Amino acid sequence: MKQIAPSILSADFGHLAEQVEAINQSPASLLHVDVMDGVFVPNISFGFPVMEALRKHSTKPLDVHLMIVHPEKYVERFCDAGAWSVGFHLEAVDDPTEALELIKKKGVRTCLTINPDIDVKRLDPWLDKVDMVLIMSVFAGFGGQKFIDATFDKIRYVRSEITRRGLQTLIEVDGGVNVENAPLLFEAGADILVAGSAVFHAEDMSEAIRQMLR
Ligand code: DX5
Ligand code: ZN
Repeated sequence: MKQIAPSILSADFGHLAEQVEAINQSPASLLHVDVMDGVFVPNISFGFPVMEALRKHSTKPLDVHLMIVHPEKYVERFCDAGAWSVGFHLEAVDDPTEALELIKKKGVRTCLTINPDIDVKRLDPWLDKVDMVLIMSVFAGFGGQKFIDATFDKIRYVRSEITRRGLQTLIEVDGGVNVENAPLLFEAGADILVAGSAVFHAEDMSEAIRQMLR
């Protein structure tokens, strides 16, 4: 099933509850939560207090994208804070095993993410060990960047690996997704599309999401 996960990073933080309510009323499947530490990426977003507020107001499951160093130190707290899935960057760790195990022990879905400059084949050994992979289509750190076209081939590659090996791993794509490229990304093999600006800056958020799912 095609799914859209609006990224709360692009919301109006002065009206967070209303923005979340608009997503509750929309055809979105998940609410994407971008956590940045100012070390792994050159930007700082928000942490646990905001996560708590989102959990309280959102009826959509929370899809947590950690852009932080040492994810193994924090994944359990994000699980306890009500995450539906917790993902972190493969290139942020020497070995993702520890953090993945901690998430699994909490009964939460696991996700491994790669930035655009990381060889997509580095996901190969992990495809059967995670619930989802997140392929970044912009460099992690900021909303509103331009989609990188090379992402299409990466999606097709991972999709072919998943099919060849008979896996159920979901493919998520994040960054620069909009009404124009969304149908093409689903066609290339994506399951979940994250969209920040294209949803929160749209005149009608639900309509924008419907357009992406068309
Ligand atoms: C970037 C974040 C994305 C971002 C997407 O570091 O991971 O989730 O918020 O925003 P748009 O859709 O505006 O590129
Ligand atoms: Zn994200």
